[in-house]
Amino acid sequence: MKKIVLLAVAVAIIALGYAVSDQDSVLAANPAKASAKAAKSSTPISCQTCHADFSSLIPENHPPVKGNELSACTACHAPELTGTIDKNAYSVRMHLAHLPPKGNVDCLVCHRWQEGKSFGLTGAKESWGAPNKEEMELMKEIFTGWAASVYMDNLHAKAGISCANCHGKELPTFDVTVENTRCLACHGPMEALVKKTEPPEFKDRNPHQSHLGDIACTVCHKAHSESKVYCLGCHQNFKMTIQGAGETKP
Ligand code: HEC
Ligand code: HEC
Ligand code: HEC
Ligand code: HEC
Ligand code: HEC
Ligand code: HEC
Ligand code: HEC
Repeated sequence: MKKIVLLAVAVAIIALGYAVSDQDSVLAANPAKASAKAAKSSTPISCQTCHADFSSLIPENHPPVKGNELSACTACHAPELTGTIDKNAYSVRMHLAHLPPKGNVDCLVCHRWQEGKSFGLTGAKESWGAPNKEEMELMKEIFTGWAASVYMDNLHAKAGISCANCHGKELPTFDVTVENTRCLACHGPMEALVKKTEPPEFKDRNPHQSHLGDIACTVCHKAHSESKVYCLGCHQNFKMTIQGAGETKP
């Protein structure tokens, strides 16, 4: 039954495409092709450059969406400014779909940025912070790394965890880090983590409970570069692996 309805909708869309015989609207049904065309054109880029509508792009069982601009989403998804730990699959999917390797849409198609003053969404007044030029460059660099990396940042992206889910409501900039309490808000309590990673054979070789005492999670877990097991610096004979270690780990 569902299939028939979908087929009917598809036929209607195709018919509409031919009826208006507008090359752009046919292109818009194929975002990848439209992207390539947009890259060569000098007209300002908006969602409509590449998408006729969003109905085929939103997740299954998602409420219907009207419109073909970002406001079609912000109507329900108000900019998330609280830095909550509740996952934000909306933010993650919007970025993953449009940044390399999947796409290559400039940040400023969706965002507005006033250097050193504000950074928000196109058409919305809310702001996440006030990045200067260098901070914006760094953020871009980290974003493109995040979308394609084999590190912990991408492991989190795959689970719908956005930048702000880790960094909180302050826009991340040079030399920021993440405190243990933030990691543990999602991965804790510590006792449970200790239990989870207790090696069956050598129980005292637990990365989360050792003679090192309380140390920063980031000593071993790097978000945007290779994670490393610090213990191995002294105990070369221990067999320990860590997630997000990069290419070296199968
Ligand atoms: C330069 C072309 C281009 C522009 C501009 C563009 N998109 Fe996309 N968009 C794409 C491509 C390519 C995909 C990936 C399609 C696929 O995976 O088949 C995509 C995917 C999506 C998805 C699906 C995401 C997912 O996880 O499945 C949504 C939603 C979306 N775009 C919304 C938007 C909105 C909103 C705008 C405007 C603010 C926009 N796009 C602007 C090219 C573009
Ligand atoms: C009519 C209200 C409404 C509109 C408009 C809307 N959404 Fe949603 N969206 C929801 C609700 C409700 C949820 C489920 C709760 C949540 O995760 O916030 C959701 C969840 C999502 C999720 C997360 C699904 C998951 O995997 O957890 C994505 C991605 C998403 N929306 C994308 C979009 C995009 C892209 C647009 C604009 C093209 C859009 N939404 C417009 C109501 C809406
Ligand atoms: C296709 C549209 C699109 C593109 C391209 C895009 N963003 Fe976003 N971005 C969004 C949306 C939508 C949100 C809002 C998420 C929310 O409200 O939860 C967002 C939120 C953010 C946030 C808030 C923090 C977070 O974790 O959600 C930052 C920072 C950000 N974007 C930076 C960037 C940068 C830097 C680029 C370019 C490398 C970029 N964005 C490209 C759509 C986009
Ligand atoms: C899993 C949690 C996590 C996620 C998700 C995450 N980060 Fe980070 N981020 C960290 C940690 C931890 C550091 C400290 C350096 C390190 O360990 O790599 C950091 C460092 C940074 C820095 C400082 C880099 C420097 O050179 O000083 C920036 C900027 C940053 N993150 C931006 C982002 C952006 C943008 C996103 C989303 C695309 C993001 N982060 C997602 C945890 C995270
Ligand atoms: C907002 C919640 C949240 C925060 C904050 C967070 N994580 Fe995660 N993390 C997750 C989710 C969800 C996953 C994917 C599912 C899973 O394996 O638990 C994940 C995955 C991981 C993994 C990979 C697990 C695996 O089996 O592949 C590691 C390691 C990890 N996180 C460590 C950290 C560290 C260290 C921090 C702090 C710098 C952190 N996380 C911050 C939610 C979070
Ligand atoms: C001394 C290095 C080291 C430190 C410090 C460290 N970890 Fe780990 N972590 C590891 C290693 C090694 C693994 C892989 C072991 C495993 O999964 O059995 C791991 C695995 C994890 C996992 C994935 C567990 C799973 O298998 O699902 C999470 C989540 C995690 N660490 C969170 C944290 C948090 C949160 C902190 C800080 C409170 C922290 N780690 C501190 C080395 C460390
Ligand atoms: C700065 C060097 C250093 C680091 C880093 C280090 N250790 Fe040790 N560790 C030692 C020394 C020195 C001893 C005592 C001499 C010995 O027995 O090898 C020791 C002893 C131990 C022992 C008891 C003896 C053995 O070999 O079984 C265990 C278990 C152990 N460490 C686990 C860890 C774990 C787990 C980590 C990471 C969370 C860690 N160590 C990180 C230096 C280090």
